Amino acid sequence: MSTPPAPVAVRAAAEDDAEAVAALVAEALGDKYRPALGAGAQAAIAALVRRDVAGPGTNRRWVAEIDGRVAGSVTMSLGRDADEGFPAAVAEAVGWPRAIRATLVLSLLGHGQLDADEAYIDELAVADWARRRGVGRALLETCAVEAAEAGRRRLTLWVTVGNVAGRALYARAGFGERRRRRVLAGRLLFRAPGAILMERRLAPAPPAQGAAPGSPG
Ligand SMILES: CC(C)(COP(=O)(O)OP(=O)(O)OC[C@H]1O[C@@H](n2cnc3c(N)ncnc32)[C@H](O)[C@@H]1OP(=O)(O)O)[C@@H](O)C(=O)NCCC(=O)NCCS
Repeated sequence: MSTPPAPVAVRAAAEDDAEAVAALVAEALGDKYRPALGAGAQAAIAALVRRDVAGPGTNRRWVAEIDGRVAGSVTMSLGRDADEGFPAAVAEAVGWPRAIRATLVLSLLGHGQLDADEAYIDELAVADWARRRGVGRALLETCAVEAAEAGRRRLTLWVTVGNVAGRALYARAGFGERRRRRVLAGRLLFRAPGAILMERRLAPAPPAQGAAPGSPG
């Protein structure tokens, strides 16, 4: 008799997760972060994780575990600007000259300002050993629930055109293509000539238990 696969558990990221998350994000999203940060990618991503978990900022980050081992991670922005605080957090890890260079390079893939009804997803990454076990799907569902609870009506993200796994995952999770853009020097820098803005519409979160219908939240 075969044992059932271990379940995926999603929880809010903590400061202690920074190194494990950074290692897996730097590996899974190497095409994005290597051109911007080179050997400093892992340290810079660890600094971004610490920024997200320190609060009270506008980014929320989750990790998914299988058997107590970090298997994946995602961050979601509810701020005005998707890249709020990025240069300062990265500078802590790699110094200002590299942080400014990284900010410029990554702005080619950036999202910019969020609309008031929007939550923006970034850095979704799953470790090689944990793929096709529902980790990406579970992290996206967490984002959807939390975004709806925060009053947002749309989840957005960018995926590069050649990312077959990412595009399949998003399509399966209810995201539709909203628009495409060419990425300046994208093929050279990120091995991707363009990117696609994907969007999923969210139903309003159900009222909290005990709240009378129509009562102020
Ligand atoms: C994209 C990524 C996050 C998917 O994570 P995952 O945990 O393996 O995805 P899931 O197991 O939750 O897959 C859910 C569904 O998405 C689709 N899917 C996921 N990976 C796929 C692949 N490689 N090929 C085809 N479909 C795929 C399938 O429909 C899958 O359901 P199924 O396994 O029942 O067929 C992972 O491959 C990854 O980390 N890639 C590198 C980083 C990256 O590209 N991140 C996204 C940046 S925008």
